Amino acid sequence: MDTPCTTPGYESYARKTSRPIPFEDYVLLLEEGLQVLEHGVVIVDGEGRIVFFSRTYGEFLETEPEKMLGRFSPEAIENSRMHIVVKSGEKEVGHSQKIRGEEMVVQRIPIRKDGKVVGAIGQVMFRRVHDVLALAEQLDVLKRKLKHYEREIRELRRARYSFENIIGESPAIQKAKREARNASKTSAPVLLVGESGTGKELFAHAIHNASPRARGPFVRINCAAIPGELIESELFGYEPGAFTGAGKKGKPGKFEIADGGTVYLDEIASMPLPMQASLLRVLQEKEFERVGGTKVIRSDFRIIASTNVPLEKLVAEGKFRKDLYYRLNVVPIYIPPLRERREDIPLLAQALAAEISEEEGTGEKTFSPSTLEMLARHDWPGNVRELRNVVGRLLLSVQKDLIEPEDVVPHLPGKTGSSSLPLTAQGKTLREVVAEVEKKVIEERLKAEGGNVAKAARSLGIHRTALYRKMNILGIPVTR
Ligand SMILES: Nc1ncnc2c1ncn2[C@@H]1O[C@H](COP(=O)(O)OP(=O)(O)OP(=O)(O)O)[C@@H](O)[C@H]1O
Ligand SMILES: [Mg+2]
Repeated sequence: MDTPCTTPGYESYARKTSRPIPFEDYVLLLEEGLQVLEHGVVIVDGEGRIVFFSRTYGEFLETEPEKMLGRFSPEAIENSRMHIVVKSGEKEVGHSQKIRGEEMVVQRIPIRKDGKVVGAIGQVMFRRVHDVLALAEQLDVLKRKLKHYEREIRELRRARYSFENIIGESPAIQKAKREARNASKTSAPVLLVGESGTGKELFAHAIHNASPRARGPFVRINCAAIPGELIESELFGYEPGAFTGAGKKGKPGKFEIADGGTVYLDEIASMPLPMQASLLRVLQEKEFERVGGTKVIRSDFRIIASTNVPLEKLVAEGKFRKDLYYRLNVVPIYIPPLRERREDIPLLAQALAAEISEEEGTGEKTFSPSTLEMLARHDWPGNVRELRNVVGRLLLSVQKDLIEPEDVVPHLPGKTGSSSLPLTAQGKTLREVVAEVEKKVIEERLKAEGGNVAKAARSLGIHRTALYRKMNILGIPVTR
């Protein structure tokens, strides 16, 4: 009598369902499945004879699968090792196999029944080693992207400042911190007044993070950077079809997003007059409509504004609305420039150096006492931002552990002995600034050494190969 055909896999499947497909159909599904797998499949029996040869493998090798069946694999397929795997019982994954002059990557896995090898399955994993290399390259690109985004995230995290991040022990900065701490307890509008680079944004973050709104959003609006015609829709949002290009969904504006949090109006003095009128209305009523919309939107946000030009002067000149000025100037906080708190400069320089060296992996370097003195004497028109840039350049361009005054001289504008190093870092990343400076320094040194790379490397205190590498990256040609 016939025992019914079955396999353990089919048995389990049949137990799980009330109306199982017949066993024949099950086998057909498995077989067809193997047939259509994108990458070719071959199955051999316990002696290495081909039992199954997929259509896709046939297409790949430009041969009829029919012609392969029943043959001893090494006789049918170039460089086949299926018969060896059957013998050894050891799988081979990621092996390369040369077929018709092309290296491909394959896997060969023994098939067992009751512990005994009864066959093996082989499959092409990559048709060409080239594909693997391409994939590896792709992976590399992805890894680099990942690294880039990790950096960005670190930067964003760094942007989550609190009062502890505001360095300075001078009475002037302590006063500002005290006032800001007090302001953080209320929801009153704050106006941060200070020169460029003094840390206004840092204060805005710190106030927000110390306030009861800390868990709410911190929304920054750079009034100088939004094009005039976009300000309305950026601030108030828009409804679908409000204007050409408005899209089907509409979009909430910054004020709407800031509900429960803080709006930081950066460079408020750059806000055009018509916009000042709209802003005033929002501040008075705490409600507004989206562009092209009729629904009134209520949003509960706290305003922190910043300016590096005295608003009183603009009011007097008719460039800033007086009523808006009064609305914003409820708690004015003055952030002193560095030259009004020179005692903070050494402290800041060291703290910034520690921060930058951690971010950039430049290794720890220290400033000699006379260097710190020299930095403290400088006027720093660009304030902490400028100090940060200079410290960053020093860390990357000075090759010694101890930074001395003569290392700093070329980096300070308006001092004797300075070379023509670029100091405008506006809008550039630290990396760009550093690359620019490195390029300049290397070019100058090469010129001084008559193009002799070995000599230039020695005088720069780095190894010759390191200098070649840098020149290559920075696009500096070898002239000798
Ligand atoms: N007291 C401080 N302690 C540590 N870092 C500071 C301090 N003040 C400013 N910084 C750093 O200096 C840089 C400039 O600060 P920030 O962007 O807050 O200045 P800003 O006043 O908003 O300048 P701008 O008016 O040009 O926008 C930032 O990298 C900030 O982290
Ligand atoms: Mg700023």
